[in-house]
Amino acid sequence: MPLEHYFTNNLNLKSEIKEIPYAINNIDFTFLSDNGVFAKNKIDYGSNFLVTNFLLFADKLDAKVLDVGCGYGFIGVVVSKILNIDVDFVDVNKRALHLCERNIKLNKVNGNVILSNCYEDVKNKYDYIITNPPIRAGKKIVNTILAEAKNYLNEFGELWFVIHKDQGAKSTKKYLEEWYNVEIVSKSKGFYCFRAKIC
Ligand SMILES: C[S@@+](CC[C@H](N)C(=O)[O-])C[C@H]1O[C@@H](n2cnc3c(N)ncnc32)[C@H](O)[C@@H]1O
Repeated sequence: MPLEHYFTNNLNLKSEIKEIPYAINNIDFTFLSDNGVFAKNKIDYGSNFLVTNFLLFADKLDAKVLDVGCGYGFIGVVVSKILNIDVDFVDVNKRALHLCERNIKLNKVNGNVILSNCYEDVKNKYDYIITNPPIRAGKKIVNTILAEAKNYLNEFGELWFVIHKDQGAKSTKKYLEEWYNVEIVSKSKGFYCFRAKIC
């Protein structure tokens, strides 16, 4: 039997919905999670680190935001609520997207969910693209998500992402420097939070 990863579409996997509480800036959230999705038992450390830094440093008003590889929607839902903006969400995992739709409603935010392999079905352009990329899907997918973001960013748009030092943070920064000015915004427990602006 092939190994099932969180990014596959195994709809036969038994469903065991869990509720994950989360709070930031004195606002409480609840996230529904399930088997077969990333961070099914608790909010991922890297995702929380990314969203916390993004909210501290991102300064565009009324921004259009895309959460790529959204999973059950943690990053985009928090950004949507705190900044009071609509967010678009993309993932290849149908179960994750279904949960994402429920989490958008549960947390009373506005979002649009798109089933898409990387940007294949993305039509708009954004001020911010934010992602905790799917390292387990392989370097090719990760590099596509990060490098192709430039085609979906508005002028002066920014790509925000997190990668652990043991998962290629430094080599990815170097790879992206062909198209972006890449800045390390912050580091924690081996995680690097990056902001990339098109050169
Ligand atoms: C590291 S997880 C992050 C999930 C979520 N953003 C979070 O922070 O909890 C990466 C996500 O990318 C998704 N993914 C994998 N391959 C993808 C692809 N080719 N296109 C879009 N999303 C993909 C996975 O299904 C997974 O939900």
